[in-house]
Amino acid sequence: MNQKNGKNTLGIDSCFEELGNPIDLFKKWFSEAEKREINDPNAVAVATSDKNNQPNVRMVLLKGISQKGFVFYTNFKSKKGKELKANSKASLCFHWKSLRRQVRVLGDVEEVTTSEADEYYNSRPYKNKIGAWASSQSDDLANRETFLNKIREFEQKYPEKNSVPRPPHWSGWRILPKEVEFWLDGEGRIHERLVYINEKGNWKKKLLFP
Ligand SMILES: Cc1cc2nc3c(=O)[nH]c(=O)nc-3n(C[C@H](O)[C@H](O)[C@H](O)COP(=O)(O)O)c2cc1C
Repeated sequence: MNQKNGKNTLGIDSCFEELGNPIDLFKKWFSEAEKREINDPNAVAVATSDKNNQPNVRMVLLKGISQKGFVFYTNFKSKKGKELKANSKASLCFHWKSLRRQVRVLGDVEEVTTSEADEYYNSRPYKNKIGAWASSQSDDLANRETFLNKIREFEQKYPEKNSVPRPPHWSGWRILPKEVEFWLDGEGRIHERLVYINEKGNWKKKLLFP
């Protein structure tokens, strides 16, 4: 525990004083997670809900972060894809076990631009690109062989390793954050929480009881 200004703090107080927007703080924490997590520091749970307000949560990988928001890529015909088209509200939750930290994000999604999606898709390995064509993500699958046959089919269709086009239904969502909350583990459950709330384009921040 640090001693800062005569107060016991695990770190959020200093962030609270120094960083005016949550993306800068997120980047700071994320770079620590990249050094410490044994794998997938960019793994994040994304919650959506369907037209009956049934929440649904699953892991994805964060593939972009900027002042605009948090980007992940997926099949737009998947369950999450359909849900986000019907209801653009989403929530993210990162948990970095090695750091004992959590970050939660609330906001609406927008689709990334075509050029952003192309750029990321083209950076992926050949197998991943073929998989994006072969997987009717979240549809029923009769047996594994059906999927493996589809992979072989698309490998034959696109044998050129560097010329696999991006499927039109495969793209990215960007969550435009309205609220970002940082949680830091404390001894004896004396945790620290800091939330940033976007009010008309300006970030306001406050501490919360743990
Ligand atoms: C660590 C991890 C990372 C994942 N990353 C992604 C991803 O970036 N995009 C994606 O579509 N699915 C990803 N998945 C699979 C999803 O969790 C999920 O099974 C799939 O997208 C179908 O979800 P849906 O039926 O809710 O649309 C990942 C799973 C794990 C465990």
